[in-house]
Amino acid sequence: MLVLAVETSCDETSASIVQLEEFDKKNNFLPIKILSNIISSQVKIHQKWGGVVPNLAAREHVKNIVPVLDTALKSAGIKLSEIDVFATTQGPGLIPALLIGTNASKALAYFYQKPLVGVHHIEGHIYANFVRETQNNKICFPIIALVVSGGHTQLMLIKNHLEYEISGQTLDDAVGEAFDKVAKMLDLGYPGGPIVSTYAEASRKNKRINKSQIANRRSQITLPRPMLNSKNLDFSFSGLKTAVLYSYQKSKKKVKDEKQLESLKKSICQEFENAAVEVLVKKTRKAIEKYRPETFLLAGGVAANRHLRDEVEKMLESDYPEIDFKFPPMELCGDNAAMIAIAATYRFELSKNKKVFQNNWKTLEANANLALK
Ligand code: KG4
Ligand code: ZN
Repeated sequence: MLVLAVETSCDETSASIVQLEEFDKKNNFLPIKILSNIISSQVKIHQKWGGVVPNLAAREHVKNIVPVLDTALKSAGIKLSEIDVFATTQGPGLIPALLIGTNASKALAYFYQKPLVGVHHIEGHIYANFVRETQNNKICFPIIALVVSGGHTQLMLIKNHLEYEISGQTLDDAVGEAFDKVAKMLDLGYPGGPIVSTYAEASRKNKRINKSQIANRRSQITLPRPMLNSKNLDFSFSGLKTAVLYSYQKSKKKVKDEKQLESLKKSICQEFENAAVEVLVKKTRKAIEKYRPETFLLAGGVAANRHLRDEVEKMLESDYPEIDFKFPPMELCGDNAAMIAIAATYRFELSKNKKVFQNNWKTLEANANLALK
């Protein structure tokens, strides 16, 4: 079975074709191969505005969607007429952006009279992990997933395929959003996550080389760990972001030259990353204690963060060696259509009534606030 998915929920225009060899019903295992996954990023366009501008994003999606689809088909060596199922990100996301992808896939599903599957963007991020599943290395349920992206920070209990229970979430900013805002405050550019992370790593490396300064630098910047000891599994990152602002404004006054300013920014990035990751890891531990899952998995753009991966891995290996853990492949952490195609394959194959997808070209609607059911 060949599935073609498009993803246009934010600032990446992406199309992907995946192939399901044969559904192994006995083992509930879907061997899925990515044939192509083309991503056209609009980062350069939004950079000068310091964030994604919805109408500009939509205009770029309109420009890019056909060439991206064409490239995805060519690099997979597949013709549109061979596609069995079309899929699209239905939401959440920016509505002007979402509409381009949903309308393109609705047109294709109508023309070829094929089923159309609408996928929740976060479900896509979660299912990016399933591409690594093999017959001998299956992902077992229940799963605890830590979803960390630009719009979401959630701990989820997944008892079975496509069954989600949110056990904790951010009360204000998402963690990726906090990374982006910190980068903006420090004039580091957009998107902030990878830059802040690079700065934090440089600071760590610096401190490893110059050990004598550790105590000194540590005492310079101290940021709060919001809700670290709260009883629930919720998060809050907006206070941490504000603390970065005050700390930067205060410390900047003591800076004498450009070199010291760079060094200050690196120290702040390290402390910010340490604080955010410490809270994420502690709440993950709490969720694991509460639900005792078989598997832990990480999902979303911030899953690319090295420090987060290292700290989660350290905690699981030392305290919960019985729990299997999965991180998405680096190239599938950010927004891409392959993750949407993988999730759609599961939605379609595990559905008891496949007919419901046949008329989706008529009824499917993009939804900026789509809930994960
Ligand atoms: O999942 P994603 O690509 O888009 C959304 O669904 O929101 O996540 C984007 C977010 C951005 O906030 C970006 O700064 C963050 O993921 N991000 C990172 C890293 N790479 C991307 N944050 C921290 N460290 C990274 N290495
Ligand atoms: Zn995303």
